[in-house]
Amino acid sequence: MKISNLGYLIVSSQAPESWRTFGLDVVGTMEVTVPGAEVALKIDEHPFRFLIEKSHEDRLTAIGWEMANRADFEALREHLAAKGLMIRNGTAEQAVKRCVTEFFATEDPSGNPLEFYYGRTGCGEPFVSPIGVSGFVTGDMGLGHLVVPASGGLDETHSFYTSILGFGDSDNLTISFPPEDIPDILVRFMHVENPRHHSLALTTLPSPTGIVHVMLEMEDLDNVGHCLDRVMANGMSLMASLGRHCNDNMLSFYVNGPANIPVEIGCDGLQLDWSSFEPTVSTVPDIWGHAYVLG
Ligand SMILES: [Fe+2]
Repeated sequence: MKISNLGYLIVSSQAPESWRTFGLDVVGTMEVTVPGAEVALKIDEHPFRFLIEKSHEDRLTAIGWEMANRADFEALREHLAAKGLMIRNGTAEQAVKRCVTEFFATEDPSGNPLEFYYGRTGCGEPFVSPIGVSGFVTGDMGLGHLVVPASGGLDETHSFYTSILGFGDSDNLTISFPPEDIPDILVRFMHVENPRHHSLALTTLPSPTGIVHVMLEMEDLDNVGHCLDRVMANGMSLMASLGRHCNDNMLSFYVNGPANIPVEIGCDGLQLDWSSFEPTVSTVPDIWGHAYVLG
């Protein structure tokens, strides 16, 4: 029943073209054709990792979690139904669009949209970045990591992931702002069945789009630096400058992507052996850098 990795994201967009430009010209993703989708972006051997659908709003529509096989998939579906969750089985047409054998959808206690699938198919052509990015760190570790708001309550939502879905805790971060009268920012980082330090984090920070940020990991610092150059050359703004995180060691910057969705571009992320890991507790997010760019 274990969840393997973060497989794909589906995003509703008022301007899918902005994702195409961002993906192809700035990040270096490859566009592929998916019937019924305005834009599909590929970063590795998987058929795509981002599916952008035309909509009247900019919002995260689905977080696709990969299951290792049909038995795990069916066991999870039964488990969640027994817990009283509303399960919506994907149609054959919807499964084809996602290039998966079968999937179902549900929500976490904060209303974040979840999908679980097995059997990614139709991989098609190999990944070739249109602007020469050497590759992204993905494979069995999934597309990267995602941070979503826990608007329904951090403790309740965190408990859903750890107690019901079987996610493991990686780090518990509390950022305080004494002596200012600003509420603490709480972030719970969690991993699934692969070595990536965290595939998902929940936070008390709100997000109008449902994505606090999404992270893509490049193969080395030069690729990150070249991407930062392209951000500047394309007139895009940063949410945070270069820096290195304490908990996952990621060296990264944050660009304000389409619809102002922050996208973290990094390298050097920690890969861990969970059998000997003790979850950490942090009070600062960074070793250095990641200064927020205001205005
Ligand atoms: Fe991150």
